Amino acid sequence: MLFDFKKPKIELIDTKVLILPIFKNNKFSDLASQIDKKLNFLISDIIKEKYWKPDLGQIHTIYSNQKLKIKKIVLLGLGDKAKITDEKYWRALSNAVSYLNKINITEIAVYLDGIKEQKLQNTIEIFLLSLYKFNYHKSQKNHFVKSKIVFLIDNINKETVLISKKSQIFANAINNVRDLVNHPSNIITPKKLSEKAKKFKNELISVKTYDEKELDKMGLRLFTSVSKGSIEDAQMIILDYKPKKYDKTISIIGKGLTFDAGGISLKPANKMDEMKMDMAGGAVVFGVFEAISKLMPKNVRVVGVIGACENLPGHNALKPGDIIKSYSGKTVEIINTDAEGRLVLADLISYIVDKYKPEYLIDIATLTGAIVIALGHEYIGLVGNDQKSIKKLIEISEKSYEKIWQLPIDELFHEEFKSDVADLNNVGNGAEGGASSAAAFLEEFVNPKTKWMHMDIGGSAIISKTTKAFMPKGGTGSGVKTLVEFIENLN
Ligand code: BES
Ligand code: ZN
Ligand code: ZN
Repeated sequence: MLFDFKKPKIELIDTKVLILPIFKNNKFSDLASQIDKKLNFLISDIIKEKYWKPDLGQIHTIYSNQKLKIKKIVLLGLGDKAKITDEKYWRALSNAVSYLNKINITEIAVYLDGIKEQKLQNTIEIFLLSLYKFNYHKSQKNHFVKSKIVFLIDNINKETVLISKKSQIFANAINNVRDLVNHPSNIITPKKLSEKAKKFKNELISVKTYDEKELDKMGLRLFTSVSKGSIEDAQMIILDYKPKKYDKTISIIGKGLTFDAGGISLKPANKMDEMKMDMAGGAVVFGVFEAISKLMPKNVRVVGVIGACENLPGHNALKPGDIIKSYSGKTVEIINTDAEGRLVLADLISYIVDKYKPEYLIDIATLTGAIVIALGHEYIGLVGNDQKSIKKLIEISEKSYEKIWQLPIDELFHEEFKSDVADLNNVGNGAEGGASSAAAFLEEFVNPKTKWMHMDIGGSAIISKTTKAFMPKGGTGSGVKTLVEFIENLN
């Protein structure tokens, strides 16, 4: 993909297609006026005669009939200028981009009127995220290949170039996470994730993987208990980004269930196919490492961890009533084998705190269905033990296109996990307040000195209906943007 920045002057635009944003009831931008004039006031006429209204997200295509180098102009309605928000703008823009992507247009210029800095970075990311398609398994590929994208902006400087590089890094990382999440479980197995992790090895990043036998020996039996019903070998993957000098360590731990059938507490068949995405948290760890391997944040060591396995009802499977001893020493009575993510994460958390002693620890997981009921598919649910870090993470997300909402956690949620026969049970009150209570289970394994946050992406990691064109249905890559920005902001 080729990127270019140009000033918004018609004589400079030689791309075949231009996306031209137009506000309703507002003066045209300079570029729109110039084009309108060259086309004998065609755009003005179209609006005056009501062939098209520049309502938010409405597009209308016109052709220049050799009067310009640009052949096709996609008029993009932005609605009322007074009512526009970043979110509305991004949704409208992504509408136009994905429309062009559908008809396989490979050269696009887009006018980004008055957009700069943070918003410019976000907007370019939105643009690239709107081009995403998942069609590896179609015999007829329709990927956006050999494309040229020209951003028309008023101020082009060194910073602009930097911003564009950064946004490409973010968008590629997110789109690759989407790929991982969208691939089915017969292709993305725990072993495959381990192989993929090894590709991150470089001077600053080391990669270690542990198989199920090793994990059993090391005492991560809560984790391995989940994998017993499957023929696939469980894998713990540790990616360690260690710059020469660092004074902080952060660990990002991802749930990597390559398939969650529920185990012996089998899930209903309806929508079970979606459970190929239960490794989305693990995929986010890959996304974070893809980005930081290029951005190389200073002064911070990042330990990325993925707990990968399958939850299936095989003959060796974990059974309700079983009691398992965790890495931390606490015993857990299994009431429901479908509450497996917390078992995997609990052991990973205690292991990482024990061996790496990070100052910050963030786990990210498609942990509960309850989060979908609480927050829908837009928001990441956030729980943690350090309000300052929570505030910072939310503030960072607010400057982007990701949304985070804090959920409560207190003593009562912890009490749900009392067991008559073991130290803890694994379901508490189940779905009632389920996202908070799952987090309370995890907190049982967190050292209170560690600044811990838990991101439940059960709702945001995959969507079954496209409501925003930059988030096409399927895997979304939710979490990558905020986590990478958080790491970069730790300095
Ligand atoms: N992976 C699921 C959570 C999930 C379900 C995320 C649907 C997104 C959509 C998790 O392992 C699970 O099954 N959780 C149970 C917990 C319950 C048994 C306490 C749930 O949410 O139903
Ligand atoms: Zn489950
Ligand atoms: Zn699960």
